[in-house]
Amino acid sequence: MKESLKFDCSKIFHFANESEVGALSTQAHEAFKALREGTCPGNDFLGWMDLPVQMTEAEIADIGKTAADLRTRTQVMVVIGIGGSYLGARAVIEALSNSFHYYGPASMKVIFAGHNISEDYYHELEAYLQDKEFGICVVSKSGTTTEPAIAFRLLRELLEQKVGRDEAGRRIVAITDASKGALRTLADREGYKTFVIPDNVGGRFSVLTPVGLLPIAIAGFDIRELLKGAAEMRVQCMEREGNIAMEYAMARTTLYRKGYVVELLANFHPKLHYMTEWWKQLYGESEGKEHKGIFPAGVDFTTDLHSMGQYIQDGRRMLMETVISVGRAEHEVVIPHDGDNLDKLNFLAGKRVDEVNKMAELGTRLAHVDGGVPNMQIFLPALNAFYLGQLIYFFELACGISGNLLRVNAFDQPGVEAYKNNMFALLDKPGYEEASKAIKEKLKV
Ligand code: PA5
Repeated sequence: MKESLKFDCSKIFHFANESEVGALSTQAHEAFKALREGTCPGNDFLGWMDLPVQMTEAEIADIGKTAADLRTRTQVMVVIGIGGSYLGARAVIEALSNSFHYYGPASMKVIFAGHNISEDYYHELEAYLQDKEFGICVVSKSGTTTEPAIAFRLLRELLEQKVGRDEAGRRIVAITDASKGALRTLADREGYKTFVIPDNVGGRFSVLTPVGLLPIAIAGFDIRELLKGAAEMRVQCMEREGNIAMEYAMARTTLYRKGYVVELLANFHPKLHYMTEWWKQLYGESEGKEHKGIFPAGVDFTTDLHSMGQYIQDGRRMLMETVISVGRAEHEVVIPHDGDNLDKLNFLAGKRVDEVNKMAELGTRLAHVDGGVPNMQIFLPALNAFYLGQLIYFFELACGISGNLLRVNAFDQPGVEAYKNNMFALLDKPGYEEASKAIKEKLKV
């Protein structure tokens, strides 16, 4: 039998007994049913649930062909996007890439822009791209988000200056709404290759649409395996006994109701850093509403054990922790014997680095439980596209169930408008005259 992602919450039972978690069972089944039947708030954004099985062979082939064409035309592809239009692709690409892919002469580099408004970032990016054959994959569902729009303005101008408008047009791909928004209008006018973000899939749930799949394919990774993993997790949670996404949702919700209001997602592999960033957006933007919700935070271990470890072990008790464990390392590195043994580490000689890492992980989990931090574990047999697909679907489904348990609309994000309104008022955007006057008055006080 093929190995699969596993979830274990047995270490939370020191903090919430099994019957407390079990008491949520009826509500959790209702929350899951509301998702499946489309009766929950935000039910016009449930398209992500079927993506892994709805993506057609023709769509996958089109993504593959476009990626192959861009890989022959360019040596660097800049993926422009923010939030859900960027984090999923970055999470998978970083998890599957060589840790030093930025530094080596790799044949194809995928880099990111449009996720900040730092002038120095853009100055340095333009300087870097100056002597490179580059292309642009611009992703925006609304087609009007400020950060990616600024980046696209800058880089499109640079690309057109370098290779001319016609060739630039062949190196630019836009992923956006089927019919609305500034990016759709521009893409149609310029004849760019486009892919559509389905209406019923919100940004943070869009990694298994072209939003994630095209950049991942450009980076050279197997999107069929990713979709296969997600489809397998979908079957496991929807059609077989033992819905582990529901178990996770129930465990974290029980702990939240008992006062554990912060969830740390911990990894022991630097390649998973952006998976945590993606998870933070997924859960933060879905649950943080009406002054409710678990605050999602991330830690990279063992690195952060030397910075955040003290707080986690001994600070205020409001933390729960979910560790992503990875079964097999890809490569074998053995710690050498040292005749001098000045560091007194000869007891490790002959052991694999991964064995030390695994004991650090187990030791950490036990110490945190002893220190009052409930611990959950997600086990991936290995870090490959199939298991990442499983992980993505597991987290998305658990997020939908958790949101319904919390009784919020997990699929909108009204709160993200507040900073934009202030920013536009401060920058005197036409149409914001009243708000501009009001905010400037406020700043005088
Ligand atoms: O999850 C979301 O909906 C958001 O994070 C969006 O993805 C993000 O704001 C980017 O929006 P857009 O794709 O419209 O540029």
